[in-house]
Amino acid sequence: MERLDKFLCDSGAGTRSQVKQILKTGRISVDGKPEKDGSRKIDPGRNQVTLDGTPMGGKRRLVVLMNKPAGFITATEDPSDKTVMELLPEELRHLDLKPVGRLDKETEGLLLFTNDGGLLHRLISPKKEVPKVYYARHEGQADQEDVDAFAQGLTLRDGTRCLSARLTPLGQGESEITVCEGKYHQVRRMMASRNMTVTYLERIREGGLSLEGVERGQCRCLTEEEMQELDAL
Ligand code: URA
Repeated sequence: MERLDKFLCDSGAGTRSQVKQILKTGRISVDGKPEKDGSRKIDPGRNQVTLDGTPMGGKRRLVVLMNKPAGFITATEDPSDKTVMELLPEELRHLDLKPVGRLDKETEGLLLFTNDGGLLHRLISPKKEVPKVYYARHEGQADQEDVDAFAQGLTLRDGTRCLSARLTPLGQGESEITVCEGKYHQVRRMMASRNMTVTYLERIREGGLSLEGVERGQCRCLTEEEMQELDAL
């Protein structure tokens, strides 16, 4: 059993305050009878809830792709810093979305969110080897020795061992890096271990997903097909 107002929010009917208003104006029915009391308990498996006659489905599985700007930390709340949750559009804020992995405060680019705990776990597991591709600007110039060291699996300055990764030099002080794990500050620390301090970092791809069509600071919900592709990874 759950509260009718929470069920309506989870169904995407609106934010908590919008749902309050919708209930007040008598647009909600439970089993065909108008219902204005949001605190009423319903059983989503038995009761049929409708909004203007349209059945509401309860918790929808969602995956959201954000193009994160610098200056926001990856956390659900923080007393002093702005969090990535503040960048989610209002209608997606009360749907239990959690960031998938983490981008540093100054890192930009592709960040996923989901309300599916199983998918979240699978996407951040190094066993799954979901490739994440980064564009980096850095001090120095990557050479073949660096490429080979990344491929063999680097040892960071503190002794942490990394899985094999791909380093592709793009030009003077620019590289693309592909990793299949998500250790703390991983790319910055990998590059530092080869004496290349990262000055700018952007995640440009994850699995088969890219930032195409999503401006910095904007989000989009993945399609059902894209979610199924993530399930298959
Ligand atoms: N590696 C880093 O060092 N920082 C990020 O934000 C992501 C990967």
